[in-house]
Amino acid sequence: MSQAVLPRLTVIGTGYLGATHAICMASLGYDVVGLDVDPGKIEKLQSGEVPFFEPGLPELLTKTMQTGRLRFTTSYEEAAEHGDVHFICVGTPQMPGQDAADLSYVDAAVRGLAPHLTRRCLVVGKSTVPVGTSARLGAVLHELAPAGEEVELAWNPEFLREGFAVDDTLRPDRLVFGVASDWARERLTAAFRPILDLGTPLVVTDLATAELVKMAANSFLATKISYINAMAEICEATGADVRDLASALAYDDRIGGRFLSPGLGFGGGCLPKDIRAFAHRAEEIGVGQAVSFLREVDAINRRRRSRTIDLVREMLGGHLNGKNIACLGAAFKPNSDDIRDAPALDVARTMHGLGANVRVYDPAALDNARRAYPELRYGSSALDVARDADAVVLLTEWAEFREIDPDALAAVVRHRRIVDGRHALDAETWRASGWEYRALGRP
Ligand code: UDX
Repeated sequence: MSQAVLPRLTVIGTGYLGATHAICMASLGYDVVGLDVDPGKIEKLQSGEVPFFEPGLPELLTKTMQTGRLRFTTSYEEAAEHGDVHFICVGTPQMPGQDAADLSYVDAAVRGLAPHLTRRCLVVGKSTVPVGTSARLGAVLHELAPAGEEVELAWNPEFLREGFAVDDTLRPDRLVFGVASDWARERLTAAFRPILDLGTPLVVTDLATAELVKMAANSFLATKISYINAMAEICEATGADVRDLASALAYDDRIGGRFLSPGLGFGGGCLPKDIRAFAHRAEEIGVGQAVSFLREVDAINRRRRSRTIDLVREMLGGHLNGKNIACLGAAFKPNSDDIRDAPALDVARTMHGLGANVRVYDPAALDNARRAYPELRYGSSALDVARDADAVVLLTEWAEFREIDPDALAAVVRHRRIVDGRHALDAETWRASGWEYRALGRP
């Protein structure tokens, strides 16, 4: 395909989603401008540095910067001038003290871009938004853009997982195009040609459905995790083993084993806030009952955190006060430095609040954790934080924690007690090394 037929792309918002999208699209041959209102982020990216942890992304940034097809800016004017297709990739966090999504960044992106749109172009929302948002934003675009109705809005939800962002972007399970015209569909097809050519399944639909697909997918995943954690609660009360239960369920193809790992539950910048925003939006439009189970999904998930602390307390003879506790993990999941709604840090902070001497180690998220929670103490390795520990608690299942040698850890702790919050360790091996091993939902 010749360069001439490729639409020129802009990506507005260069966080986990936007930076990955911009870099990956440039790697596929597109001419891309990435925009962010944060000059610090733009400076880093422009100098070839990825401002967050994502395996494979720094190498890809270096490679694509050398092609000259990728640059970064803070200027909406420059972005508008460049782009035939503009992707909106800004965050939609939970509003403080409310369940609703904060759409102010999405609004600001559209309002920042629109006044500079002087020719026919496509604006594509990728951010996760409550259903109905695109209808409102479409009207704002038409009103503010000098090109008026020539500017069209489409929705293209993004399903990338942190830690696998590059692969999920370049080889997604499916693409969803929410469009209102054949022209928008054709533009999006041109913008994803190399990915579609891989045989990637495509679902073309209206904008509202495209918005909903993302909420529905994340709600399903959250529900699956809470389902197995609900089973863990039953196992705790009956002496049954949730790990064996999950394995047995997973052999049924209709159920499947993914997102069926019991443990400390889900966190991160997506699942928790998305199920709350979804429930909130459904209530707003009068169909709250349809997804009221998401409130229960959320409640089960939150209970995982307090029950993990209960287990540590039980192990330590009923109180945490003055006990040395080593926390392995801070990120919300392995292969990420993201600590947004991280179950690990929630547990660490609560135990700290209960008087324990908590020390935290994480392979990638320490800087973020230190910045957000300076009151906690941090160490430089698992062995470092485990020194003189009365109990070790595994909170994020990084590979390096799975591979810890129980004898090496035994040599530094005060007492051989471990709570495996992620069902990541082999109980027999640890018990054979003289450890008291406990995990929620296992005898
Ligand atoms: C998620 C969705 O997977 C992705 O499609 C969407 O675009 C954004 O939200 P992400 O937040 O990166 O991606 O993380 P994910 O890998 O889905 O994990 C979410 C949380 O669930 C993590 O805290 C993880 O530890 C937890 N989890 C996952 C479990 O507790 N058990 C499981 O079996 C799987």
